[in-house]
Amino acid sequence: MPDPSQYKTPLFDAMVSLAESRKISFHTPGHKSGKGIATRFVKYVGPNIFSIDLTTLDEVDSLQKPTGVIKEAQELAAKAYGADRSFFLLNGTTVGNHAMIMTVCNPGDGILAARNCHKSVLAGAILAGARTQFIYPVMDAALMMSMNVTFDSVRQAVESAAPEIKVLVITSPNYYGICADLERIIPFAHGRGMTVLVDEAHGPHLGFHPELPKSALSCGADMVVQSTHKIIGGMTQASMMHARAGRVDVMTLAGVLKVLQTTSPSYILMASLDLARMQMATEGEKLLSKALTLARWARGEINGTEGFRCLEKKDVLLRGMGDLDETKLAINVSGLGMTGYQVSQALNMEHDIQVEMADPFHVLVIVSIGDRKEDVSRLVDALHKIADGRPSAGGQPPASKKFDWEQVKPPMGTPQGFPIADGPKPIDGPQPGDRSPREAFFAAHELVLLDKCAGRLSSEIVTVYPPGIPMLVPGEVITKDVVDYLSRVSAMGGTVDGLAEDGRIGVVR
Ligand SMILES: Cc1ncc(COP(=O)(O)O)c(C=O)c1O
Repeated sequence: MPDPSQYKTPLFDAMVSLAESRKISFHTPGHKSGKGIATRFVKYVGPNIFSIDLTTLDEVDSLQKPTGVIKEAQELAAKAYGADRSFFLLNGTTVGNHAMIMTVCNPGDGILAARNCHKSVLAGAILAGARTQFIYPVMDAALMMSMNVTFDSVRQAVESAAPEIKVLVITSPNYYGICADLERIIPFAHGRGMTVLVDEAHGPHLGFHPELPKSALSCGADMVVQSTHKIIGGMTQASMMHARAGRVDVMTLAGVLKVLQTTSPSYILMASLDLARMQMATEGEKLLSKALTLARWARGEINGTEGFRCLEKKDVLLRGMGDLDETKLAINVSGLGMTGYQVSQALNMEHDIQVEMADPFHVLVIVSIGDRKEDVSRLVDALHKIADGRPSAGGQPPASKKFDWEQVKPPMGTPQGFPIADGPKPIDGPQPGDRSPREAFFAAHELVLLDKCAGRLSSEIVTVYPPGIPMLVPGEVITKDVVDYLSRVSAMGGTVDGLAEDGRIGVVR
């Protein structure tokens, strides 16, 4: 039986009540409950949404200084997720990662971070002036995939880290749903006096179903950020941060968030967090059961189709990972002789199906509480057609099957997220170690064409987006392997983000 208090949605209720009171507004937002909104917009979305697009008022509380319904809504979230304090975030998990690092690091402090972190972790280090040392995820050549860090690689890295490094940052699950073994990693790191921060952007649903991986909080994490908008009912940009008092000074965290967050938070986004929490806490298990059943059915169908291979739980457990979120379908398409980008394009252009992400070898499908059997069946059917080389009705034949796989292997052995070795690389190896990401980011710099920059130091974060994992970190030596890889991914249709915007193509700061 759900906790009866979790049916409450204090913020949303207060917003509706204020909107329905029809008080005359002489305050922001300037559209005055939709009366000043362009007609086409109102016509498309309807009028109600504008009547709850509110500003900070007594009736609906203040995010900067919550004492009323926002405080209550955040307390309900903390209770549902098992945190001491929860905070609503309006700039996604991005701002949460910035805040986590700024809360626990003073300038010059060090963090030990899994190298498959999102670029916002690096940005957090830049903002805080923290030094970084990395733990490399397993690159599995058979699965053609960068997985997550193992317990052993974390243990080795922690044991060899400089004593002043007191913060461990793990991303779990990763984009593909692969979880690190947090049940072992977190107690070990705590035993070494470290504070553990987990970027759980892809896991706001964990903890609400017994067959999903354990949540980071339930494994003892000190601070966790989740993109409520990515997987459950939050609207885009709406995320949550959860903290445990003890190793983290929650008052400092609240103060950091006040500095980083907007003073004009969207009440619509915050209401979506209030309602998403209510939904998970009261009927999450039922909804997630449905998503799991659909994903398991699709996985079976896809794995029964020649040319595709969808990642399974046993694949990740065998490789020292903690668990797999089965609602993510990471489908290796290399057996078709096509890239993930080509299959993604074919799904979109010929079958009107859009996937979350593609990489050279995979397409990634998110199955969530919003999916229906007919949607998932259409995906499976479309994949069958692509595998058969059959064009859809009126569509184009599938993309070329003459793809040279040797040309698209990621730069094995380099530090940019795709190393083969399972274990930490020496700090003085690829990382010059004498410049923090902040020093390198703000250092005097010049713009260099991508194909001319091998051997130089990057002062920019360069990622392939999605997933937004830095291929280049400020202060890191740019290797030829990475230059080649970025060029190839770009030529294949991947988006390289972080190249300087001076109009020339492929320019690195
Ligand atoms: C692991 C990870 N962390 C953080 C983020 C940033 O999250 P948001 O888009 O909610 O700011 C992403 C986005 O893709 C992500 O994949």
